[in-house]
Amino acid sequence: MTAPSRIDVRAAAASYSVLVGDGLLPAAGEYVARVTDARRCALVTDATVDALYGDTVAGSLSETGFDVVRIVVPPGEASKSWPSAGAVLEELAGAGVGRSDLIVALGGGVVGDLAGFCAAVYLRGIDYVQLPTTLLAQVDSSVGGKTGVDLAAGKNLAGSFKQPLLVLADTDVLTSLVPLEWQSGLAEVAKTAMLAGPGRVEWMTRHAGALLDREAGVVREAVIAAIEHKASVVSADELEADLRESLNYGHTLGHAIERVAGYGTIAHGVAVAEGMRFAARLAANLLDAPAQTGEIQEAMLTALGIARPAYAGDVEALVAAMHSDKKARGGTVRFALVPDPGRYVALPVGDDVLEREVREWTDTVDERG
Ligand SMILES: NC(=O)c1ccc[n+]([C@@H]2O[C@H](COP(=O)([O-])OP(=O)(O)OC[C@H]3O[C@@H](n4cnc5c(N)ncnc54)[C@H](O)[C@@H]3O)[C@@H](O)[C@H]2O)c1
Repeated sequence: MTAPSRIDVRAAAASYSVLVGDGLLPAAGEYVARVTDARRCALVTDATVDALYGDTVAGSLSETGFDVVRIVVPPGEASKSWPSAGAVLEELAGAGVGRSDLIVALGGGVVGDLAGFCAAVYLRGIDYVQLPTTLLAQVDSSVGGKTGVDLAAGKNLAGSFKQPLLVLADTDVLTSLVPLEWQSGLAEVAKTAMLAGPGRVEWMTRHAGALLDREAGVVREAVIAAIEHKASVVSADELEADLRESLNYGHTLGHAIERVAGYGTIAHGVAVAEGMRFAARLAANLLDAPAQTGEIQEAMLTALGIARPAYAGDVEALVAAMHSDKKARGGTVRFALVPDPGRYVALPVGDDVLEREVREWTDTVDERG
């Protein structure tokens, strides 16, 4: 185990650190004890992660002197729901978890968002720490304090900002992710690279093979760079007033593709990467961005093996889905665009233009696959 890297996130309520390294979960108790006086913690995880790492983390917490209550939810997005949050809250209450106790979220974005939301509302708010176990959760969802659950009407419609006391990102656990989850995380890292600048895009393209092979040193460097970027954005714009909107790059159309195709039909990473391709077209057509921007982005996505989807969907349905996304403001769909790597522009796009652009894009999707 080498010493972990530390990235600090500044938030109004309190600042916290993200530690990135190998061998962190077996020492979780020690790290958690440094940031809290709590002696009792509720370890919230999903059944898959529990089977892989639950005993390691619970054991480490117990050895450090914590009394551990284990709460396990089924794996998958369905656990990020109102009923599931209710069940977790009832378990916390049933176990007598108190105001000075702690929630430990061990898992991917689903567990992090769910457990964070429970931490935000249980007894009007108790402390929590994040132990993210997917690449997506390490580079994105565990940092920034956005928590919440889905409603029947849409994803992430109920939630709260609640900053963790600490984020421990153990890169060892990334080896057990299934390929689709690895790809989803890589798409988020690629998104961050476009926002960070040409140097990061070039680095990602050059190290794509090593990233696909999950070479430890390269993975760790990619995770650190992506977290550094996200930390700098959320530190500057904690409550998503402006700059934080840049992190939606690729997600406006990406979310619509996932929704119109039916969740789970098109992988999140494929949908986000396609949203980035669409955003590059918009930047070229509406902001006169140089063609090179789309080309270097495509070279990176291709090197990372993120193929184009074999299904585009109906234009009207896609535009309607973009409207119902909570990120539409005042009835106009807004896009985060990157005209040059490292430069971000927020652009509201009216429906006439949007429909035309989506139609032209759907013509480029090969639906024979
Ligand atoms: N809060 C935010 O800022 C934010 C940002 C981006 C995404 N999100 C949310 O994150 C969620 C997606 O997160 P996700 O992609 O991590 O999905 P997830 O939490 O469902 O995890 C994906 C799958 O991988 C399994 N898994 C987790 N860690 C593993 C490991 N180390 N080895 C093997 N299997 C493992 C899980 O059991 C699950 O089946 C979405 O709900 C999304 O809305 C939130």
